[in-house]
Order: sequence, then structure tokens, then C-alpha cells
Amino acid sequence: MTGVEGMQAQKDKGPHLVLFPIPFQGHLNPMLQLATLLHSKGFSITIIHTNFNAPNPSNYPSFNFEPIPDGLSDDRVAAMDPIALVAALNVVCKAPFEELLGRLVLENPYGPIKCIISDAMMHFTQEVAAHLDIPRIVIRTSSAISFAAFAAFPLLRQKGYLAVKDHQSKVPVPELPPLRCKDLPSNGFATSDPNALYHLMTHMVDGTRAASGVIWNAFDYLERSALMKIGQDFQIPNFSVGPLHKHASSSSCSLLPQDHSCIAWLDKQVHGSVLYVSFGSLAAMDESELVETAWGLADSNRHFLWVVRPGSVHGSDWVDLPKGFEEKTEGRCLVVKWAPQQEVLAHPAVGGFWTHGGWNSTLESICEGVPMICSPWFSDQRVNARYVDHVWRVGMQLDNGFERGEIEQAIRRLMVGNDGQEMRTRIKVLKENADGCLREGGSSYESLNSLKDYILSL
Ligand code: UDX
Repeated sequence: MTGVEGMQAQKDKGPHLVLFPIPFQGHLNPMLQLATLLHSKGFSITIIHTNFNAPNPSNYPSFNFEPIPDGLSDDRVAAMDPIALVAALNVVCKAPFEELLGRLVLENPYGPIKCIISDAMMHFTQEVAAHLDIPRIVIRTSSAISFAAFAAFPLLRQKGYLAVKDHQSKVPVPELPPLRCKDLPSNGFATSDPNALYHLMTHMVDGTRAASGVIWNAFDYLERSALMKIGQDFQIPNFSVGPLHKHASSSSCSLLPQDHSCIAWLDKQVHGSVLYVSFGSLAAMDESELVETAWGLADSNRHFLWVVRPGSVHGSDWVDLPKGFEEKTEGRCLVVKWAPQQEVLAHPAVGGFWTHGGWNSTLESICEGVPMICSPWFSDQRVNARYVDHVWRVGMQLDNGFERGEIEQAIRRLMVGNDGQEMRTRIKVLKENADGCLREGGSSYESLNSLKDYILSL
């Protein structure tokens, strides 16, 4: 058998699943990790993807990749906020997705399709799947706690919580304890259309309700009550199989080149001494916030590794750090454009993580037992940060945006204070429970087996 034949034989094995991610880093990672996991369980995998932010097929030789034209030019993408972009993808992808799926059904190049697994945010896939009579399961790549908040949007709107003013930001939302108005995932978007998020998320929730099942990048120990409540309210099979990154690294689906030089730098640092700073793949700040961030880090006198992603300051591809910053932080700081985050968090030199609270980052930090400072921007990040600070108590949320004095104090509290030590102890317990859920007999392990059986029964 030649290499190519061997690859084809491997590709062709097993019942066939079609997976459709949404083309953002924080969504591609868990979807491709799930694909790897299901492939290891004997399924054959086809990934349908947009041209925009396409994954690299050569990193996944066992999968079939099928692009669909999204018609989105770079200029059009650059002019849209994430909500407008996802809303647009739900429109422009529909016809090419239906056409491609129809062809895969008719021509059968990879075997009959057992089911489609779609990102829940690609809600249009429900109608297409129903039309072609193919079962559709959704993956919700973010937390169950934030999904519960999205599912409550109609109630929250009716009660006026979605339109509160700044001075009411700390008002509790009794329907979703312990969230306050500022923690609701409707906050933090720069979108010009206030209804766009509401419509997108209610479609996402309705599309999930209509699906044949939902897969969570979650583990029961962490989000048990939210998962149970959703299970009761939605009455569809639920599978919490996370944390997915423990099955496959996200390096293979990184859209930006990861700078591995930071690992050699970490090797030279003292155990637990480094603060890792990264705000994910979408968040962007003003230049004044960057300046406050830089001085807060510098004034903390701690060692730090800072990811300053191209585009992370509004309106500029790259930014100069403030004058004097380099001198003040010499020998104790490294700035990179994009890091191998999982490797960084697993490094013994890393003792804390200042994050935007994206769900992948939160899970990756929990799984390495690294306590957090959270500066949430928008959407689920706000809910995640509130739980990190107030429920799991494994980190602290910055309350006043980016202010150098508050940043400096929070860093000291996390890295050298008693509070930080207590958070470190608590997050180690979460880490052990995450490990336990993934081991044979653990909840995620069992849930994955149930998912496999369920798909085979469809
Ligand atoms: C977005 C939303 O912001 C988030 O709230 C939602 O949960 C998912 O979609 P993103 O901003 O990309 O996610 O954050 P996050 O979910 O944390 O995902 C970022 C991913 O990029 C992580 O898997 C992380 O390991 C990776 N990463 C990040 C790198 O590989 N290198 C880096 O330097 C920074």
C-alpha cells in the first residue's frame, strides 16, 4: 500500500461525520480538538470551512477538507465587528453549504453522512440539515454558564436588564445569580446595531433547542448546575466531554504563527514567578488602555510574558510600547505577537495569567492550575470572569477597566499575596477534578462514550 493509499484508507474508515466550525480561533480550536477525538473513536471526518480563517489541512492528514466560498473580502471583514461578521456568515454561507452538502449526499465521496456537527452559532445549519434530512448536533464551544445567560435573553430584555445604564452596572440580576448587570454577555460590544446580538443569540439558542443533541466543551464538576438546568429546560441529549484541549493541542489550528522562543525564556525564570498576559484572538483596546497596561505591568516589578497581538489596539496593526517601558522592565519581560499558550500555561515558571476570560483560556488555565486576573471584554467572557472571581474563587476581576494602579495591585495580590496563594490552592483542586473527569470512569470520559453510541444510533 502506498502512503497516499494508506492515508485514503485511514480517511475512509468508520461512520462519516461532517463538522462545520465558525471561523474564529476560539471556536476552531475546540471544534478541531473534537474532530481529533471523534476520529480516535473510529469516525471518519470531513471539515467544511470558509475561506476566511481557513484551517491548515496539512496539519490534519486524516481528515477531508471541503472549502465553501463565503464571498467575504478582507475589507468587508475588517469593517465588521464579530457580531456583524457572524450574522453575515449565517447568511452568505447558507447556499454554498447546502449545495456542498447536497453534493456530498449525492456523490457520496466519503461515505454516507451519519450526522452534521455544527458550531451552535452557525444556526442556519439547522434548516439545511432538516431539509436534507440529516441529523444535526451542535457544539457549544463556550461555557454552559454563559449559554444559560444567552438563553435568558428574552426574559432579561423584558425586565429591562439588557438596556441598563453605567451607574446600574453593579445591580444584581436575581434571575441569574451571581451575575450583576455588567456581567451579562450583552455588554462590551462596539456593535452599531443593538439588536444584532439579541437576534444572533436567540437564533443560536433556538437552533440548539431544535438540534438532535448538544456537545459542551465543559466538565461536570465545574458547571454541574448550569448543565443540569440546561438539560431540564432543553430536553435534548447533552454531552459534556471537555476540556477538549486535553485531547489535542491547539497548536495545529493556530491561525497565527506561535513564537516558541518564549519557552526558552521561561526556562530561565524562577518557578512560579512569571505572569502570562494575553487577551485572546479578538479583543482590542484603545491606545490609552495599552499605556495603562504597560505601566501597570512595569510598576508591579514582577516578571511577565506579554502577548501583544497584531491588531490588539484599535486602528493599528502594530503599536509602540510607551517610552521608558523597555528600560524599566529590562531583564524581566518578554513581549511576543502570539504564543504557544497551552505550553506556556503548563510551564513551571508561570504563576499567574492575566486573561480576557475567553472560555478556552479559562479552561486552559484551570487545567494547569494557574490562577487568573480577568479583564473581560464582551459576551461570554463577562460571565466566565464573574464565575472565576466570585464562584470558583480562582482569580480576581479588575473592576475599573485598565488603570495602572489597580493593575499593579492586582498583580502583586495574585503573584505574591496570600489571596493569590489561596486561589492557587483552589485552582489545583479544579485541575485535579478536570483530570478526574477525563480518566476512565470520569464524567467526560463516559459522556464521550455515550456521544459515540448516540451518533451510531442516529
Ligand atoms: C472568542 C471569545 O473571545 C471567547 O469569549 C469565546 O469563548 C470563544 O471565542 P478568543 O478571544 O479567541 O475567543 O479567546 P479564547 O476562547 O480564550 O481562545 C483563544 C485560543 O487561542 C486559546 O485556545 C489559546 O490557547 C489560543 N492562543 C491565545 C494562542 O495559541 N496563543 C496566544 O498567544 C493566545
